[in-house]
Amino acid sequence: MITINENYLKLQASYLFSDIAKRVASFQQAHPDRDIIRLGIGDVTRALPAACIEALHAATDEMAADASFRGYGPEQGYGFLREAIAENDFRARGADVNADEIFVSDGAKCDTGNIQEIFSTTIKIAIPDPVYPVYLDTNVMAGRTGIFADGRYQGLCYLDSVRENNYVPRLPSEAVDLIYLCFPNNPTGSTISKEQLRTWVDYARENRAVILFDAAYEAFIRDESLPRSIYEVEGAREVAIEFRSYSKTAGFTGTRCAYTVVPKECVAYDSQGNRQLLHPLWNRRHCTKFNGVSYPIQKAAAAVYSEAGKKQVRELTDYYLRNAALIKKEITALGFDSVGGDNAPYIWIDGQGRDSWEFFDMLLNKASVVCTPGSGFGRCGQGYIRLSAFNSYENVQKAMARIKQALL
Ligand code: MLT
Repeated sequence: MITINENYLKLQASYLFSDIAKRVASFQQAHPDRDIIRLGIGDVTRALPAACIEALHAATDEMAADASFRGYGPEQGYGFLREAIAENDFRARGADVNADEIFVSDGAKCDTGNIQEIFSTTIKIAIPDPVYPVYLDTNVMAGRTGIFADGRYQGLCYLDSVRENNYVPRLPSEAVDLIYLCFPNNPTGSTISKEQLRTWVDYARENRAVILFDAAYEAFIRDESLPRSIYEVEGAREVAIEFRSYSKTAGFTGTRCAYTVVPKECVAYDSQGNRQLLHPLWNRRHCTKFNGVSYPIQKAAAAVYSEAGKKQVRELTDYYLRNAALIKKEITALGFDSVGGDNAPYIWIDGQGRDSWEFFDMLLNKASVVCTPGSGFGRCGQGYIRLSAFNSYENVQKAMARIKQALL
């Protein structure tokens, strides 16, 4: 008799963003004349940078001639992209990362979801609350948790990210093995200082733990004192894996390209307590289950690092940050407390006692604006909503005017 992976039965009914999409679709069906403005899922709305498009066209032409056509590429990514990443994203900022430590992939969602496969199912996981649901759900699927009760899965160490700690979690009081951190944070938009990040690196070194550092939103950092990579912190190479994405940086949500850094010194242990390098394990997993990102898309990603590409990416992220500043200004004028929006495209808003989903429904019904209910990101998100800056400036202006009207 075929049996299922029963861990899937522990999961909440559906993935947060699918749930929201369904609710919005049924609202639209019931109100076909309503012009809905989406500030929910962080999906970019502006075209790819011109430099990326040019590279994409040129690479497509190469694929049209036998002499320049390419079939399977290296699973880890083409050298031209990995070199450009190492040079521009890391060495230029004093972080020591080599091209052969970079694994190009089709998304940080997949990588942050898949990486847990190389660790034992018996390890203790520390997960922020609120959190990007992928980290949590993939560990549930793998069987690292108990059942869901009182808004939390049993067996996990939750790291509360709340107003009292400025949405940067404190070190756990119990020993943990694998720690998920994301800064600039999704969903709160909060940032971490280099000193705070150092305490986590030191913790991981002392406790023989590993940090999974999701830096998908680093391109939105404008405060030069903030770290963009965990490898800016001394000692991180032994204990940290970093995830990056071109989705929010350069508008690749539909195009798909991202990468993961697994330094050659990064270690975990086998059941006998022997040190085991993580780079060969992830390489093995990557080569077995993934056939690489297509050549034209990697060419487009590499164009991000050209002089024109750098300028265009800066303009793109500046555009969304201008939206974020407007949301922040208007929401503050309406008397709400919020965090994020300065060095991140998300604004995390305290609903002043409103239930998250009720706030979501109210904004949808009265303002035709989609937000993300904070409780969908965890128990600590109850009472909050998240507004995303990914839309046109005109739509953000319209949305904020409508929200103001709805709250009168
Ligand atoms: C979000 O809205 O949190 C993100 O867009 C989700 C994602 O990147 O998968």
